[in-house]
Amino acid sequence: SERTLVLVKPDGVARGLIGDVIARIERKGLKLAALELRTLDRETAETHYAEHKDKPFFGDLVDFITSGPLVAAVVEGPNAIKAFRQLAGATNPVEAATGSIRADHALEVQNNIVHGSDGPESAEREIKIFFPDRF
Ligand code: GTP
Ligand code: MG
Repeated sequence: SERTLVLVKPDGVARGLIGDVIARIERKGLKLAALELRTLDRETAETHYAEHKDKPFFGDLVDFITSGPLVAAVVEGPNAIKAFRQLAGATNPVEAATGSIRADHALEVQNNIVHGSDGPESAEREIKIFFPDRF
C-alpha cells in the first residue's frame, strides 16, 4: 500500500467539487487516511511548490493556491500515487484524458481543480507539510 497527498485546490472548493473528487477517490477503491479544510499561508504554499520556484508562473501559482480554502487529504491504497494522477488527468485540462477530473471540470492549466503527489519522495515530503504529526 502507498500514500499520496491530494489537494482539492481553491477553485475546486469554490465551485463545489469537493464531493465529486472524494466520490471518485472512493469509487476507485482508494481510502482517505486524513482529510482537512484549510487556507494556506504563503510560506506553506511556497514550500509545497518549491520545485517551481524559478518558473515564471510561480507568483501566480502561490497567489492562486492561497486564494481561499482548499481540502488536503492523505489518500492510501495500492499504487495510490499513480492511481490518483490517473483520476486527475494531465496538468493541462484540455490535454487530460476524457473522463478525468481535470478534463471534466477545467479549461486552463493553472486552475486545474486538484493536486496529486508525483512520486514517492514528493508524497512523503508533501504529507509532512500538511500533516506533520500524523504520519
Ligand atoms: P500538481 O498536482 O498541482 O503539482 O500539478 P501537476 O503535477 O500536474 O503539474 P506541475 O507540478 O507541473 O504544476 C503545478 C501546478 O502549477 C499545476 O497543477 C498548475 O496549477 C500550475 N501550473 C503548471 N503550469 C503552469 C503554467 O504554465 N502557468 C500557470 N499559471 N500555472 C501553471
Ligand atoms: Mg506537480
